[in-house]
Amino acid sequence: MKIPLRMGPLSGRLLLFFYGAALAAFAAAPASALDDGQALTPPMGWNSWNKFGCDVNETVIRQAADAMADSGMQRAGYRYVLIDDCWQLSRDAGGNIQADPERFPSGIKALADYVHAKGLRFGLYSDAGDMTCQHRPGSRGYEERDARQYAAWGVDYLKYDWCHTEGVDARTAYKTMSDALRSSGRPVIFSVCEWGQHKPWLWAPELGHLWRTTRDITDCWNCPLKLLGWTNILDRQAGLENYAGPGRWNDPDMLEVGNGGMTTEEYRAHFSMWCMLAAPLIAGNDLTAMDAETRAILTNEEVIAVDQDPLGKQGRRVRSLFGLEVWSKELSGGRRAAALLNRSPWPLRIGTTWKELGLDAPRARVRDLWAKKDLGELPRGYETEVPAHGVVLLLVSP
Ligand code: GLA
Repeated sequence: MKIPLRMGPLSGRLLLFFYGAALAAFAAAPASALDDGQALTPPMGWNSWNKFGCDVNETVIRQAADAMADSGMQRAGYRYVLIDDCWQLSRDAGGNIQADPERFPSGIKALADYVHAKGLRFGLYSDAGDMTCQHRPGSRGYEERDARQYAAWGVDYLKYDWCHTEGVDARTAYKTMSDALRSSGRPVIFSVCEWGQHKPWLWAPELGHLWRTTRDITDCWNCPLKLLGWTNILDRQAGLENYAGPGRWNDPDMLEVGNGGMTTEEYRAHFSMWCMLAAPLIAGNDLTAMDAETRAILTNEEVIAVDQDPLGKQGRRVRSLFGLEVWSKELSGGRRAAALLNRSPWPLRIGTTWKELGLDAPRARVRDLWAKKDLGELPRGYETEVPAHGVVLLLVSP
């Protein structure tokens, strides 16, 4: 079945709605950002949580670093090797945070050194409350001590979670840790993981480099119950576009690509849309056991270049009708990336025009970034069949 998607009165009204939401977001955009010269493009790396959960140890982390270097991930731009929850076990009598000695017998410093020796960067996880989400010691009341310890270990990135924070003011808690990290003297990427509960896009840009916008991602397209699959998270990013920019990124959560719950087409769409959002690209799969399709998705350099474009603009949804969507992302050099996203269970035709993408050009050169194919210089626009639960990603250069 093929249904061409064309502009009608309804899609016109939708367009107005999205432009209205974008204008409202612009009016409320924060003036200041941390502005420390870090994360000028969205951070790229790997985090242990989505695949390994609490089952982490130093071998898992070393092997992830090895695989990042050997698999082409590092060459494609991935830098940060991040241990999520469960590396920490207790505090000593002096209040110093202690790694789990059975799982990390060589200690965190040795692990950070190992990661650094590969030309990669190293990160840890903690929590603004008394305990982490997995009931390990949190940093509340120990912020300066922990930040000093992280700096001594060589930590380059801290993800800071929001469990067990009853009665805590979010902005104050994240400011306390942000200040502690800054006074530690080591440049650290600060990832605000507050799940979007207190609109962190309004206050986190001046404290950190990225902030989670929603609850956790789940590895499914149609998630049961109240779980959030990536399409549900995608819907919650519309309207946040103007808060993102160099050094400050909306974080729709880590990638599920390669974790087994979706088809290759669905993972390609997930990855494409995270790139359209200028989202941090934090892989969450087992890098030591990637199949060729997963590797091809995660390391497609032309698609990654959409995410990493130096303008740092988050893409916008410019049309949405019956699950057929057009997204446009402004790129450097007056170019646009366009995503034709088919959320329906059938292959369907989706088209766009250069005007709809925000280009004032009668003709434009078009390249299909997954097919790696130049489509020529085309007048007005382009229309093509998009696979079910799939995406066609275009680079459009006037
Ligand atoms: C929260 C975070 C997740 C992960 C877990 C670890 O749910 O949002 O990303 O860090 O905690 O316990």
